[in-house]
Amino acid sequence: MLLLRRCHGLTRCGPLNIQRHQVTPAVASCAVRLLSSREDQRWYQRAHGPSWRHALAGLLAGTGAVLACGLHHHHKAEQADTTRVQAIEKTSSLPIFTQKEVYSHRSLENGVWVTYKGGVYDITEFVSMHPGGDKIMLAAGGPLEPFWALYAVHNSEHVLEMLSEYKVGELSAADVKKQQSVKSSDPYSSDPERHPALRINSLKPFNAEPPSEILSDSYITPSAIFFKRNHLPVPAVDPASYQLRVEGLPGELTLSLEELKTRFPKHTLTATLQCAGNRRSEMNKVKQVKGLNWGIAAISNATWGGARLRDVLLAAGYGPDVARQACHVQFEGLDKDVTGTTYGASIPLNKAVSEEGDVLLAYEMNGEDLPADHGYPVRVVVPGTVGARNVKWLGKIIVSSEESSSHWQQNDYKGFSPGTDWDTVDFKAAPAIQELPIQSAITTPADGAAVDRSAEEVTVKGYAWSGGGREVVRVDVSVDGGKTWQVAQLRSGEKGPEPSPPPGRAWAWKLWEVTAPLPPDAQELEIVCKAVDNSYNMQPDTVPPIWNLRGVLSNAWHRVKVTIREDDSEE
Ligand code: MTE
Repeated sequence: MLLLRRCHGLTRCGPLNIQRHQVTPAVASCAVRLLSSREDQRWYQRAHGPSWRHALAGLLAGTGAVLACGLHHHHKAEQADTTRVQAIEKTSSLPIFTQKEVYSHRSLENGVWVTYKGGVYDITEFVSMHPGGDKIMLAAGGPLEPFWALYAVHNSEHVLEMLSEYKVGELSAADVKKQQSVKSSDPYSSDPERHPALRINSLKPFNAEPPSEILSDSYITPSAIFFKRNHLPVPAVDPASYQLRVEGLPGELTLSLEELKTRFPKHTLTATLQCAGNRRSEMNKVKQVKGLNWGIAAISNATWGGARLRDVLLAAGYGPDVARQACHVQFEGLDKDVTGTTYGASIPLNKAVSEEGDVLLAYEMNGEDLPADHGYPVRVVVPGTVGARNVKWLGKIIVSSEESSSHWQQNDYKGFSPGTDWDTVDFKAAPAIQELPIQSAITTPADGAAVDRSAEEVTVKGYAWSGGGREVVRVDVSVDGGKTWQVAQLRSGEKGPEPSPPPGRAWAWKLWEVTAPLPPDAQELEIVCKAVDNSYNMQPDTVPPIWNLRGVLSNAWHRVKVTIREDDSEE
């Protein structure tokens, strides 16, 4: 924004349809001086080099994935505040266009023009670089506002800065007035109310986690504070007309909610869900990644009730013949983006049909109907598997020889080397995340808290969980940065210890606790935890070797710093 405001004079001297790679040296140097961060500068330099298109696309792909999947990395304050991004400057010396003229630019041949807050922008060059793909063409010839309302990630200075560079004119006052009178409806207006304790990472779509201090207060996370991860508006589904389609099997089925509840035995199980981006903020501290800045609480534990997916697939004719051809079970949600594309994901067929897989078509969470945010009326619960495959508001199940073709299966939720960047990443080259690795974190004390010297000891609490049904068998805790260790006490049930789950079916987390003496000379403690599962998988000790550009699979030893408060003042 700053860049454009200060450089407007220069930009105006150039040809009207000035494009990034045609910027004059004077403009370019002004731009480089004014770009705020190093990353922006690098982007700018690359954008003007031979591979600028590719570089820009790369840089944006994270914000990016966004436009397609609604992720972003800004903090809640920034996201909630949509008013601060309204100020693209009006300049009187640019030509005035009517809405009709703008509307005549709706193709790559004739140019792609859009309007935003009274400005006219020629974004033809940007279309091929839009991280959300050709969805951008839906806005061609008209206002951006209704589309940006759906993907609030656009409400950032970064995006506006880029848009500013494509400004070619002003919309006529009469047309601005007309636009203002057409109120763009907010696709999130029917989202449910949420608990005020939740820490919001993004409002639209809604993404929030409970404060970590209360996460370990109960073994079963109350539904109201269970973390919420939505890519799109919450769909309003009428339970009376709800239908679940089952395809790709000899006996295709359509089930009403009532049929799902009555035709199949109800099973309940306690399972932990964890988002692939849990603890992403720690990766961000090493080097900026793209995605919501989750703390340690994009993980929660609930009791789910519903029909077994296996039973439903068998009723639809699943058998050995099918198993010879199909390898995947795809799920489609009822939540849609502007193009009508639904959220989707898939899991391996053997997980779906195995008796030990315990995959549920859940209609209950913690003994009640599923809440709207968690997939009412039916969601898939794939225990041991990354949250992204636990499709909410389930509309369709397809048994197939192919994985889901959805963006979230193909171009997101994959892990990469720390050496892979947005210029080199090849999403096709990595498998979709399914089972998650071993994880643990400290919930109390919070980072930066103080403990009194007179207490002589500190009680540390946290959670531990591993994917694929692997059971957490030990959590080690250190209060001196990892020099010495104590073994924490594990808790595996709501009311005290529960019998061990059958091997390979440990779906729920363990809460843990340890009390350690305060080291006499220390003024500060570095508390560290690390967990071990029954395959003896352990967490890596630091973040840099597992850093990846999307900030997923963040499971290094968790560390919090706590100061020891001397009690002198009270004596
Ligand atoms: N299913 C649908 N239909 N739409 C979504 O946006 N988000 C997925 C998954 N299922 C999502 C979805 C992701 S990324 C996660 S981590 C979990 O839901 C989160 O589930 P929760 O909101 O119940 O915690």
